[in-house]
Amino acid sequence: NGKTFTLSNGVKIPGVGFGTFASEGSKGETYTAVTTALKTGYRHLDCAWYYLNEGEVGEGIRDFLKENPSVKREDIFVCTKVWNHLHRFEDVLWSAEDSLKRLGLDYVDMYLVHWPIAAEKNGQGEPKIGSDGKYVILKDLTENPEPTWRAMEQLYKTGKAKSIGVSNWTIPDLEKMFKFAEIKPHANQIEIHPFLPNEELVQYCFKHDIMPVAYSPLGSQNQVPTTGERVSENKTLNEIAEKGGNTLAQVLIAWGLRRGYVVLPKSSNPKRIESNFKSVELTDADFAAINAVAEGRHFRFVNMKDTFGYDVWPEETAKQLSA
Ligand code: A2P
Repeated sequence: NGKTFTLSNGVKIPGVGFGTFASEGSKGETYTAVTTALKTGYRHLDCAWYYLNEGEVGEGIRDFLKENPSVKREDIFVCTKVWNHLHRFEDVLWSAEDSLKRLGLDYVDMYLVHWPIAAEKNGQGEPKIGSDGKYVILKDLTENPEPTWRAMEQLYKTGKAKSIGVSNWTIPDLEKMFKFAEIKPHANQIEIHPFLPNEELVQYCFKHDIMPVAYSPLGSQNQVPTTGERVSENKTLNEIAEKGGNTLAQVLIAWGLRRGYVVLPKSSNPKRIESNFKSVELTDADFAAINAVAEGRHFRFVNMKDTFGYDVWPEETAKQLSA
């Protein structure tokens, strides 16, 4: 699946990226998943400080490039993200360097602000956890992320990051940053699947030349929606997959690509890593049928409210409760 999109700055981004979040369990799992993905043909890896596996991703990239001299570093699109407790200007710069060191790279293709929320760090450089067991929020920096974004812009200007962006940002978050951004974010990585089509935010991003990047495109996080039905159990979606002789995951990936954004399926299972990469063309009728399933749904699987002790999306939470 060699489909690529072009970011507003001309940088090419492979349409199917490999998510590494699932593979942070046992030691070596990420390494195996990453090398399997690269052998399969994936050329886009999505990482984060928070996933604590940048070292293994880096090892995977290095070994793969050594064994496959026809593939060059610049053929692989590597994205990583700065975590909430490192949003101060100097900390963002430090975190980027630290990620580069762990990855064993001298630049990343994309660097993202993981959440629109700034938190305090402790003496060990980890997120500081308050007596309530939650993150200690830096209110000023959360409300005004200008210093954070200035550091991102600096990383872009110095070539440490070939593109910069955000993750989990809503329309109000983006509106706010347009007031001070010298360089507009090239991407916004958000949760998107048929139970959370996020149409309004996706269209808003398109309008502003921001590439939406879909995490959890298979809708397969462990939480069960209030409706009791998981994406993987939806009858219409499964029928579309069976009829075409495809897996549901292939159909969901194809749906995202056809809607015009990057998708990040993740798996630690070699067979599924491979099958997810196979290109599938949706018929117009199937595309319309999936859109019909998605229409009006707004079920978010990922909500860090309890972890952060801070509602990142008050308006989203209200919507979710009423969904
Ligand atoms: P596994 O690693 O065992 O393959 P999402 O990105 O939507 O959160 O989904 C990730 C989850 O979906 C992982 O738990 C992964 O499990 C599972 N998964 C990935 N590919 C497939 C597939 N082709 N069929 C079923 N489940 C899949």
